[in-house]
Formats: sequence, structure tokens, C-alpha cells
Amino acid sequence: MSLINEEQKLTNLFDGTEWNLYDSKILDLSAGAPDPDLLQHCVDIFRQATEHSLHPDKKSNSSLLFQYGPKSGLYEVRLQIAKYFTHMYGSEVKCEDLFITCGATQGLNVILSTLVDLNGYIFVDEITYMSALDVIRQFSSMHIIPIKLSEDGTDLEDLEKHLKEYVYKAQKKQFWGMYYTIPIFHNPTGVLFSPTTCKGLIKLARKYDILITCDDVYNILNYNDENCTKRLLSYDNKRDKDYRGHVVSNGSFSKIISPGIRLGWFEVPRRIKDILECSGIIDSAGCLNNYTSGIVASLFELGLAQTHINRMYETYKERMLATLSTLKKELPVGCKMSHPEGGQFIWITLEKGCSASEFLKVCMEEERIFFLIGTVFTVIPERASNCFRLSIAFYNTDKLEEAVKRMCRCLRKYLKNTKNEIVLNRGGTKIG
Ligand SMILES: Cc1ncc(COP(=O)(O)O)c(C=O)c1O
Repeated sequence: MSLINEEQKLTNLFDGTEWNLYDSKILDLSAGAPDPDLLQHCVDIFRQATEHSLHPDKKSNSSLLFQYGPKSGLYEVRLQIAKYFTHMYGSEVKCEDLFITCGATQGLNVILSTLVDLNGYIFVDEITYMSALDVIRQFSSMHIIPIKLSEDGTDLEDLEKHLKEYVYKAQKKQFWGMYYTIPIFHNPTGVLFSPTTCKGLIKLARKYDILITCDDVYNILNYNDENCTKRLLSYDNKRDKDYRGHVVSNGSFSKIISPGIRLGWFEVPRRIKDILECSGIIDSAGCLNNYTSGIVASLFELGLAQTHINRMYETYKERMLATLSTLKKELPVGCKMSHPEGGQFIWITLEKGCSASEFLKVCMEEERIFFLIGTVFTVIPERASNCFRLSIAFYNTDKLEEAVKRMCRCLRKYLKNTKNEIVLNRGGTKIG
């Protein structure tokens, strides 16, 4: 059979690989993707929303969804996003500040191609979302500069040191530099940036005139009501004398409704929205994802999106709490784990000198369990060679508990063997 036919048969991103999430013989803790039980609800609610959206009686002419859409995106969906997130964030999201995208990853691509000098500097957390790194690397004339990350978020001193070193006057685009980050339930570390860090970031962005792009895809997956999850954009206060607008909030429905719809939005300052609207792709062809926007607007108008998001939230919360509690009991002494209060990921750090990639090999062979090793999340591989990330998104709590127990059993064995090896090697050196 030809390769083309093989490809045509693939049904999802993981299909055709050894680590297909839908294969019941493996446990794949790598993907931040919802499982079929969660997604099955989409079938029914999207059918209802589609009927509603395309119904001839609908006041607006529904056939316009099949036309090129308005530059910043369909008004109805922006209105619904503004209403819903104003409520969820507890601070105003304005319809006119929104710009529709095909999700956060595509959003990052749009930002890099329209707003940052092609020879510019992209500051990233020393440990950061691997796919964002892949997108940034494609702009191969840009320079990627890793910045230290602490439990409170960005190491502001380290960021300023690098901003001072590299600052120059942007030549053809609005910004010479950009800091890409995930301030709320950071992927992969789970860190939640403190208010002090957020304020410090705005000061630096204004002082050095850089753009800050925040992936805000986990903001409402907050499992502790006492957390301050105020988005970074709202620290960039329009009433400040030195306000110019330095932050883009890059939102997405992938984590809270469905990744398959690939719909997201920017919340942006006016000066940035103007540039985006004049970019080649938008100026010539209108907004991204116009049709899907119409369906999602109806999903909110009918109250179906809100119920679905609540269900996703409750499920992820339960999965996160169960996984953390099992890990606390099972993780071998000497290994550290993050304690995220939101999002989908847990970051594990083995003792210095241990190799996450070697452990993964053993875990795959002996337990058929897969996860992502630390080196994929950084441009400084040695910084994370003893770390790995677990996702709680795909499996129910029973499977997650089983996966964690088996993984930890395998880890205990692996560490024992490694320690023996180290002792033997040390012994060997002494003797020699
Ligand atoms: C930080 C972050 N940004 C973006 C995405 C993907 O967003 P989208 O599906 O909207 O491209 C993910 C998914 O894992 C993520 O963790």
C-alpha cells in the first residue's frame, strides 16, 4: 500500500506511532490531550450549536459564515469570549481587544511573523513549552535566549541582564525582542507567577520596549480558589502614564473545549491589533477560522460551552489531585515533584547525575509507559537531563494511579541499579 493511502487512514495526531494514546496496551503520559470520554460530549453539543448557528431564522445571515470573515474575527464569538472570560477572570475582557486565531500555537507563529524583527531576540524560560520552542526555532534568524525560572516565575534580574546586553532599535517591525512565557500554570513546570514577578515584568517590558507573549491556555484550570491567577495583561494598566501596551494574552479553546476545533484568540493592545489587521494574511483574506467561530459563538449562546468547560475543569481537577496524591506516596526518596495547583502537568526531578532519557527507555521496555523527558523543554539540555514531565489529561483516575504506581516501581528499580553502578564505578576508580 502506498504511503499516501496509509496517511489517509490516520485518525488522530497519535495514530500511526508506537505510542498511540488510543492503544490500550500502553500508558502514554506525554500528551496534554483530552480522552474520548471527555470529547464524546462535543459530538452532541456541536451538533446543536451547528443547527443553531446555521438555522435560517437566525437573525444574522448565517450563510455569511461561509464568506471571508471580518479582520479581527466574528463579532459574535468575540462578544461571547469577552463575556465569559470577564466572568472567569473577574476583570474586564473587552470585545474590541480580541482577535481570533487558530489556537495558541498558530497565534505564536502569527506574532513572530508580524511583530518581531527577523533578527530579533526571543527570551524564553530556561524550561518552557516544547512546541513553542519548535515554532520559534523556525524563525531561524531570530536568537533564542534562555532566562532562569524560579518558583515565583521569571528571574527578573537575569531577564534584565540579558535585555541590557541585547537591546537595539527595532528596524522593520514593532519590537526588537519578545519574551515568551506561560505565567499561569506553566507548561511543563506548573509554576504560577507571583504578583511581584508580574509587576516586575511589566516594568521591564516598558523600560526595554519588548513584547511579552503569554500563553494563557490554562488560566481557568485553577484547582485552588485562593490562587491569584490575574493574567499578566491586566498588570499592564491602560491608566498608567507610561502605558503603551506590551502584552499579548494568547488564549485557546484547545484545553477547555476541544483541540480539534483549533480556535483561539489574542487579547491585545490597540497598537498591536492594528498591526495584526494589516498583516498580509489577514488584510487579504479576513479573519482566521470564521466558520468555526460561528459555531462556537452558538455553543456559548446556548450555554453548552459553559457546561462542557465545567465538566472538563472538574475532570482535570480530579485527575490532577489523584495523580499528585499517588505520586506523593510512591515517588522514591530523593526525587522531587512539582505541586501544581492548576493546568495539566507535573514536573519530576531525579537526583543530579540520573538520566531521565535512560529511565524512559527502561520504563518503555518494562512497563510500556511513555512520558516526555526534560531535554525537549529547553535549549540548554544539561539543565533538564534529570527531569521529565507527566500529563494528567488523557486517562481516568484509575489508569493514572496505575500508571504512576508502575512508573514509580520501575523508577525505584532503576535508581537502585544506577546507584549500584555508581558505587561500582567509584570502587573501580579507587582500586585503579
Ligand atoms: C503552553 C501551551 N500553549 C499552547 C498549547 C497548544 O495550544 P493550541 O492547541 O491552541 O495551539 C499548549 C498545549 O499543550 C500549551 O501547553
